[in-house]
Amino acid sequence: MAWPRLLAASRRLLAAPSPPPPAAGKAKEGPRPRPPVGACGRESLMENLEKRTAWDSFYCQRPAQPFRHFDWFLGYAALRETLAQLLREVRGEGLQRVLDIGCGTSELGPRLYCESSVPLHVSCLDFSPVAIAVMRAQCVTLPPPRNPASQLHFLQADATELSTVERATFDLVLDKGTLDALLRAKDGGGAARRALAECLRVMRASGAMLQVSDEDPDARMLWLESLRRVNVTTLELGADRGIKYFAYIIKHSD
Ligand SMILES: C[S@@+](CC[C@H](N)C(=O)[O-])C[C@H]1O[C@@H](n2cnc3c(N)ncnc32)[C@H](O)[C@@H]1O
Repeated sequence: MAWPRLLAASRRLLAAPSPPPPAAGKAKEGPRPRPPVGACGRESLMENLEKRTAWDSFYCQRPAQPFRHFDWFLGYAALRETLAQLLREVRGEGLQRVLDIGCGTSELGPRLYCESSVPLHVSCLDFSPVAIAVMRAQCVTLPPPRNPASQLHFLQADATELSTVERATFDLVLDKGTLDALLRAKDGGGAARRALAECLRVMRASGAMLQVSDEDPDARMLWLESLRRVNVTTLELGADRGIKYFAYIIKHSD
């Protein structure tokens, strides 16, 4: 994601009224989540995109009540068709496992869990304990999922180091804006490369990774094509607040 756009998104998150809650999460408000002790410092996010503490202080500044999911760009509705198509493509035997890396307080995972007619185990992962605490507290108020076998989990973990997750666990890995942020970090893209490698490791051979980004295919494909043994397909997703977004679908090639 281009730097000024990420900055604009962060200003929106802190200053503007929240977007409407997802239809699936419309239920009553949950208990006010408490940030973990010591989490709420005052680090500048834009200067420290790779640091957990900077994201913690950022999420701490978001009013906890009334809770609204916040999507940095493109909510669930804009991705519903693409997700349904991908889930059909990667469907194997039995239920499917989905991982959303850097979920923040996005509605993507919770709505996919609630609305999927096929059974899904959806895991939403973020390294910010603040974001995960908020999501856990709010999601106890969700209505039952359309498929009673579906499950929703929240994990506090670093996407660059998922050694506790076995390889080939997930059918679908989602990344909406997380690698965009890591690609802008001061470490020269090292964290982004490690996170991508971990995503591909935990993705099944028959699975897919969906990256949603405003980065142009000219730039993103150069980076993705440096990976060996993957096929990448690009889709144009349409615009949100005048900015064009793209889907990058990454699959193992052997
Ligand atoms: C730009 S926000 C995108 C949030 C959400 N996916 C959305 O679309 O609204 C990036 C998110 O990635 C998380 N994040 C950044 N680096 C991470 C890492 N190494 N491991 C896990 N989460 C990370 C941040 O805490 C933040 O919630």
